[in-house]
Amino acid sequence: MNDRLMDAQIREGASRGDRYREGASRADRGREGAGRGDRPLLEVHDLRVRFPTPAGAVRAVDGVSFDLWPGQALGIVGESGSGKSVTARTLMNLLPRTARVDGDVLYEGRDVRALAAAGAKHFWGVEMTMVFQDPMTSLNPVKKVGEQIAEALRYHLGQSRGEALAEAADLLGQVGIPEPARRVGQYPHELSGGLRQRVVIAMALACRPRLLIADEPTTAVDVTVQKHLLDLLDRLRAEREMAMILITHDLGVAKGRTDDVAVMYAGRIVELADTVSLFADMRHPYTEALLRSIPRIDDPSGHRLDPIGGRPPDLIDPPRRCSFADRCRYAQRDCLEAVPEFAGLEGLHRFSCNHPAGTERGRAALAANQAAGRNAAGLSMTETREEIR
Ligand SMILES: Nc1ncnc2c1ncn2[C@@H]1O[C@H](COP(=O)(O)OP(=O)(O)OP(=O)(O)O)[C@@H](O)[C@H]1O
Ligand code: SF4
Ligand SMILES: [Mg+2]
Repeated sequence: MNDRLMDAQIREGASRGDRYREGASRADRGREGAGRGDRPLLEVHDLRVRFPTPAGAVRAVDGVSFDLWPGQALGIVGESGSGKSVTARTLMNLLPRTARVDGDVLYEGRDVRALAAAGAKHFWGVEMTMVFQDPMTSLNPVKKVGEQIAEALRYHLGQSRGEALAEAADLLGQVGIPEPARRVGQYPHELSGGLRQRVVIAMALACRPRLLIADEPTTAVDVTVQKHLLDLLDRLRAEREMAMILITHDLGVAKGRTDDVAVMYAGRIVELADTVSLFADMRHPYTEALLRSIPRIDDPSGHRLDPIGGRPPDLIDPPRRCSFADRCRYAQRDCLEAVPEFAGLEGLHRFSCNHPAGTERGRAALAANQAAGRNAAGLSMTETREEIR
């Protein structure tokens, strides 16, 4: 397919959003669709991203796979440096040229990297868009916010200036900005941090994307504004039957707002489950530690409850063993011999762990380490919590 034709098809898809959205639904309907021969909106298979550096290649993403169905919300959760943003930037075709990418990313069966190579510039903006952590990286400080939203509408959908400005005001209203007709004429610095982030969300939603990637969309705002913005994303996602990837270091943010959660550690997904199962029966010791470590969205004090000791491994030459072993209170000798397989016994709930939390094997491993006073990698158990689940 030539570039123009491909781009035209994407444009057409935008203006005929109903065709795209017809039958699109939440994750459960999407999965039912699988039985009818439908395919996920997005298929990510064995994605690997390396950054060459003088010290060696940084393995920022190391074999990430997941499917995203129309209308589904997937949370990607993990500590700083676990590879969340690099994964998102790969999907958005926003990596530096030096990055080496392997694996497949298919959008409705179309290879996203082939779309990029073919110059399908409307794909990112019409089908898939992203909200970044810091609104100031997405907003031009010397342009009125209405003009900035209108630009996207004019560029991607070919609207006239008047049409686009009217729609920009409408979008500002949809994202809960008071007096939208006045706000379109304001500059970013005239708005609070919370309002700026709403403008960025309006910009990302302007062309009615079918997939929104929100990368820590609420980190730059206080807890109350954070809740308003997350509620807003929830509402808009439901209204538009839009799929969303919500990236956060805070497992609590994903709870109740996502259908599934992927927990990332050192460039890999170490646990993947539907959100309810994950919180009811988390299996990976890292997920368990992550939940204990985070400040709670419903706790305005913002206290870190029980920080995870130690540091993630060096991504330049990661160990050929469980990458969490040095920090894991369950770790046994077998964890030091090979990378544990990513598998699961409970439906779609998968994890990579030899001694999963909340299982007999996990309890036995924890009890043995507590008796020995350290784990197999030498971690002192006095630094970890006593409780056995
Ligand atoms: N351009 C780059 N060159 C070299 N290494 C990079 C580059 N971009 C990212 N990395 C490394 O890739 C790893 C994953 O980074 P990434 O930004 O995806 O983390 P993250 O999970 O989004 O963290 P945070 O929660 O802090 O945003 C990190 O070790 C980071 O230092
Ligand atoms: S128990 Fe072993 S495999 Fe599981 S997270 Fe701990 S170190 Fe890794
Ligand atoms: Mg990030």
